[in-house]
Amino acid sequence: MLTSLIPLTPLGTESRRLLHGRGGNFEGLEHVAIDWFAPVILVTLYGAKESNARLIAELVEFSKSRPEVTALVVQERHLSKGPKETVYGELPPETIATESGLNYHLSLDRNQNHGFFLDMKPGRDWIHANASGKRVLNLFSYTCSLSVAAIAGGAESVVNLDMASGALTTGRKNHQLNFDPDTCQRASYLSHDLFKSWGRLVRGAPYDIIIIDPPSNQGRSFKAENHYPKILRRLPELLTADSQILACLNAPHLDESFLTDLFADYQNQGRLPCAPGFEDHDPAAALKCLLFTK
Ligand SMILES: C[S@@+](CC[C@H](N)C(=O)[O-])C[C@H]1O[C@@H](n2cnc3c(N)ncnc32)[C@H](O)[C@@H]1O
Repeated sequence: MLTSLIPLTPLGTESRRLLHGRGGNFEGLEHVAIDWFAPVILVTLYGAKESNARLIAELVEFSKSRPEVTALVVQERHLSKGPKETVYGELPPETIATESGLNYHLSLDRNQNHGFFLDMKPGRDWIHANASGKRVLNLFSYTCSLSVAAIAGGAESVVNLDMASGALTTGRKNHQLNFDPDTCQRASYLSHDLFKSWGRLVRGAPYDIIIIDPPSNQGRSFKAENHYPKILRRLPELLTADSQILACLNAPHLDESFLTDLFADYQNQGRLPCAPGFEDHDPAAALKCLLFTK
């Protein structure tokens, strides 16, 4: 029974992964992820398997038996545009992810990504604990969850850069959701392709902390093997002698040595732990977040 893998205790308010089939620890469920965004369960399918209908039926029964679950959404990532469907209950007018006392807007009613990557929790925890009084550059910021965590941790300023202006609009709203207008002023937003906007970044330099969290492969915009080395070539223009770099890599085909080789001229301060619930039978394939200093 799939649902026997989900805790019997009330699911609570904290957003989290309930089942990480993609980590390879649950036989037959390698194409499944189940997330809890109170009061909604989100099931993400990465393959069209015969077992999917039974799996969803089981989760509908599970949802009915839990008063805290008011909707079950299924997203089929293996289909074009990754359509989502509410298969049980009704979505609330707004769904919010909650983590460590901070809130983030979600779009569970639209296709593709919903706006909040649960596996980046260790990155958010790290920046929250280390950003006090710091000037932060958040590259590939998406909906700016790391910026929200940095500002909550006392960052002096955060520059968020992402080529997706819609993601930055959500990023702005995420700050408004958590902070008063004055505090929101500490975040700024650059809606640009990184490789066409170095000049702007250099004008705002230096930064005390630089976060680099690119996609593994996104058309012509980013391919780790080609574009990460380009970032490294220009990184020194943005740093002080004491800057810290949180370099992330979510490419299962590249292991940690891809980053340690790139940062061979830097001090490796270690890898952040994997997010709770995201344990992978092959840690080399999981999200890698490494800290470096000059
Ligand atoms: C993995 S997501 C970042 C997740 C984010 N750090 C978080 O924790 O929520 C990657 C982001 O990189 C952006 N991106 C991809 N190529 C880019 C480029 N060349 N310049 C700027 N942004 C880019 C995408 O729009 C996407 O939002």
